[in-house]
Amino acid sequence: MKRLYFSAALLGFAMSMSAQSSKVEMDRFITDLMVKMSLEEKIGQLNLASNWTYVTNATLSEEDKAIQQLKDGQMGAFYGFTNQEMIRQLQEIAMKGKHKIPLMFGNDVIHGFETTYPIPLAISTTWNMDLVEESARMAAREATSVGINWVFSPMVDICRDARWGRISEGGGEDPYLGGEIAKAYTRGYQGDDLSADNTAMVCVKHYALYGGAEAGRDYNSVFLSRQEALNGYMNPYKQAAKEGAGSYMSSFNEFEGVPATANHYLLTEVLRDQWGFDGFVVSDATAVNEIVAHGLGDQQEVSRRALQAGLDMDMGSNAFVSTLKKSVEEGKVSMVDIDLACRRILEAKWKLGLFQDPYKYIVPDRDKKEIFNKEQLEFARRIAQESQVLLKNDNNILPLKKDAKIAVVGPFANVASEMQGAWSMSKHANQFVTILQGIKEAVKGGTVTTCEGSWVLNDKNLEESVRYGLMKMFAPNMPTPPIHTTPQEDLIAEAVKLAKEADVVVACVGELNNMTGEGASRVDITMPDAQQDMLKALKATGKPIVVVLTTGRPLVLNWEKENVDAILNTWALGAEAGHAIADVLFGDVNPSGKLTTSFPRHVGQLPLYYNHKNTGRPHPDYEPYRKFVSTYMDVVNGPLFPFGYGLSYTTFEYSDVKLSANQMNQDGKVTASVTVKNTGSRQGKETVQLYIHDVYSTSTRPVKELKGFRKIDLQPGESKTVEFELTADDLKYYDHDLNFVCEPGDYEIMVGPDCEKLSKAVLNVK
Ligand code: BGC
Repeated sequence: MKRLYFSAALLGFAMSMSAQSSKVEMDRFITDLMVKMSLEEKIGQLNLASNWTYVTNATLSEEDKAIQQLKDGQMGAFYGFTNQEMIRQLQEIAMKGKHKIPLMFGNDVIHGFETTYPIPLAISTTWNMDLVEESARMAAREATSVGINWVFSPMVDICRDARWGRISEGGGEDPYLGGEIAKAYTRGYQGDDLSADNTAMVCVKHYALYGGAEAGRDYNSVFLSRQEALNGYMNPYKQAAKEGAGSYMSSFNEFEGVPATANHYLLTEVLRDQWGFDGFVVSDATAVNEIVAHGLGDQQEVSRRALQAGLDMDMGSNAFVSTLKKSVEEGKVSMVDIDLACRRILEAKWKLGLFQDPYKYIVPDRDKKEIFNKEQLEFARRIAQESQVLLKNDNNILPLKKDAKIAVVGPFANVASEMQGAWSMSKHANQFVTILQGIKEAVKGGTVTTCEGSWVLNDKNLEESVRYGLMKMFAPNMPTPPIHTTPQEDLIAEAVKLAKEADVVVACVGELNNMTGEGASRVDITMPDAQQDMLKALKATGKPIVVVLTTGRPLVLNWEKENVDAILNTWALGAEAGHAIADVLFGDVNPSGKLTTSFPRHVGQLPLYYNHKNTGRPHPDYEPYRKFVSTYMDVVNGPLFPFGYGLSYTTFEYSDVKLSANQMNQDGKVTASVTVKNTGSRQGKETVQLYIHDVYSTSTRPVKELKGFRKIDLQPGESKTVEFELTADDLKYYDHDLNFVCEPGDYEIMVGPDCEKLSKAVLNVK
């Protein structure tokens, strides 16, 4: 045993020696290279251009210009190319350059690549970090097969305001869960060996605080104190840095009056100095130029500010290549500034192994074998099964019987491409499995009827612009299919007819892909009007209604909660959506997703999040209005569905939480345990959640904070004891002076199935 331990230690020592020697080798290589590079060539490395910058907008001569820039060594990386042959050709041009510096190829691989997985918000509701990691590993395998080696993921922005369309791209409202998710994605994409041909460098985004956009309006200003930013929002970015994330993307928003892209506090003092991040930071698309609109100066000035704040690469602005040389000549920017950024980018290329073999990803036909293959689709189905949240299930209407007469109605019943969600650009989207197809394949002896049932939105112009706005921007001459061709009354009448003939109605309703994601904020987040009209007509038939909800954000679902029998929130589940939904609807899979965002009762409650502070006049979450307390007249404070909530087809019983000791020293450990029993008649998975509350502190603390969770699997009648080890590190927060401390005193330790149904014990920390 001893011997083994000894050799493991030796091995660790040998490994750290080899890491050191490879760092020495990298430093030497890059120093030698940089000695030979001109100022222009160094600045060129700081330039990231996209496929569309040159190709879409424009004329062939623009494309030629890009190629010329590349030949001149004015391009460090490209993004947006997804074709292996094209990537190879561009790399060949780069390798003909004077110094043979390979390009990096970035892409928005957000939830899968060609095989789309559920949107990240849906994936977060699995609370299953193995699955999160696997999704990143699988996506990296697919994306690298065309030559992409840098993914613009994970998106880890905490969001407390469901009006913001980009809530769909992240992991919800909680900084602890967000941190675990950030680590899992980073591990998955980067693997153990960044230079392997099936791993990719991550680009953690959007650094920082982008999800705090005021009023949920995209790109809007963020007004947070440093303390609240660090405690409530920054943990996911921090954990990604600790996990070895290779790069970050600066965000569009401002913080403390300075756009994040030129914010020295964020980019240097926190990210590098405090967290020890040693990779490079790229701007978000055109974010450097946008600092001009923020009002900080002309292109030359904002480029200088961004570079000196700690930004290394400019995405899509052409601002660094256009101005930095002049700034150096005028003495506004030093060679040290340029060298630092250039070195960080060359280091990334070294870490990816590109100097050794710039073509290693590009193996003929590898893409054909890796993309959209059986293994990918099996994984897409597995992760989609676990990414659904059952919000309501009255009288156990679900699971459905396979021999029932089922009417599958609604505008989301049979549209493959609407299963994608935002940020999926799969060329295979038309092959994605629709809800109808999944149900049809699953029934045995039953019948399935279907119709469109409704428009998506009553406002035709808005629906048109949501559906085709993006396409019109990039391909203005492409014809778009007409919408609202059948009158809404006729669509509804058909749905009602089918409902009357059926045993049960599956109503497939929700938001189009483009109603969430970038530039897709909404102030009214109720069920889109046209579809609610259909639901009301269906309700009048008296038939049981199961709502299958396609959405990229929490919606306000008061009417639905009151009036339909079951609500299965399926988000946008990707390539295998229909199969995975049918698996859950018919009970082949027991749903186990739990919410990672609070679902509001009214948009006026936003921002709404479970880990809020107390006021001096707190008011219980579900009690009606009273004067002189912190509440509203017209709606209770509590959410419609709370953070951590989600039903199962079985039931779980929790024991009270027990602590191994009631006191703990700062260097001690205490175990909190709870026993969970499956009291129903089906196997099921349950996410056990641990929250804390710091009772007395020098700064105000949230009423609850998630600090641990475990997903367990229980057979009927089976019990498991779940243990959480707690140390002072789990209780730390950034105090008023921004020191990360665990303050002595009492902490409530709470465990349960969601953020509300908790049993409590008290731990005193010395
Ligand atoms: C988005 C980023 C994305 C980038 C490149 C931006 O508009 O904010 O999330 O990675 O475009 O496509």
